[in-house]
Amino acid sequence: MKRVQKRHQEIMQKKQRQQRMMGGLLLVGLLMIVAGVFWLRPSSDSAETAGMSNRQFVAMGEEVYNSYCAACHGFNFEGQPDWQQPFADGSFKAPPHDETGHTWHHSDTYLIESIKLGGARLAPNIGVSAMPAYEDVLTDEQIEAVLAYIKSSWPPEILEAQSAR
Ligand code: HEC
Repeated sequence: MKRVQKRHQEIMQKKQRQQRMMGGLLLVGLLMIVAGVFWLRPSSDSAETAGMSNRQFVAMGEEVYNSYCAACHGFNFEGQPDWQQPFADGSFKAPPHDETGHTWHHSDTYLIESIKLGGARLAPNIGVSAMPAYEDVLTDEQIEAVLAYIKSSWPPEILEAQSAR
């Protein structure tokens, strides 16, 4: 009789151990799900242009930038030398797109518009620039990708500052 009781006790203890282990596994699983959701959560940073955290999209922007923009704005976004001094004919030089320029002083909407319309958009008010109009050259997607590439080089505080504009 005693032996049966002992056996019963052993079985109960084993069951409890199993239950504790299942509980532990469940907890680990839950933690992994929570971590996954956090990791996949789209950034709430409003300064992020659509696609900025999509590496393929940014890589596409880089290709467009290097083929169409870098000759004037520089492969490292540095702009033309002495960009704050206009050319002899009074037209603007290409400004840098990094934090030393004023690209980040403008909203995404303004920047997309500038890329589409080019220097001609300035003519009625403040003169001309060599900035070409890209609305018939690049697709909307390519233009957005180029902006995403430019912005992907900005430090967080510049992204933050741009979002406030
Ligand atoms: C032939 C030279 C040239 C090329 C090529 C060129 N740009 Fe420009 N860009 C300029 C000049 C000059 C300005 C300054 C005057 C102006 O805003 O139009 C400018 C201005 C800009 C501005 C406005 C920046 C500001 O702070 O107002 C943006 C944005 C811009 N360019 C993006 C691009 C992109 C993107 C490309 C490639 C798809 C490109 N540019 C190609 C010469 C060029």
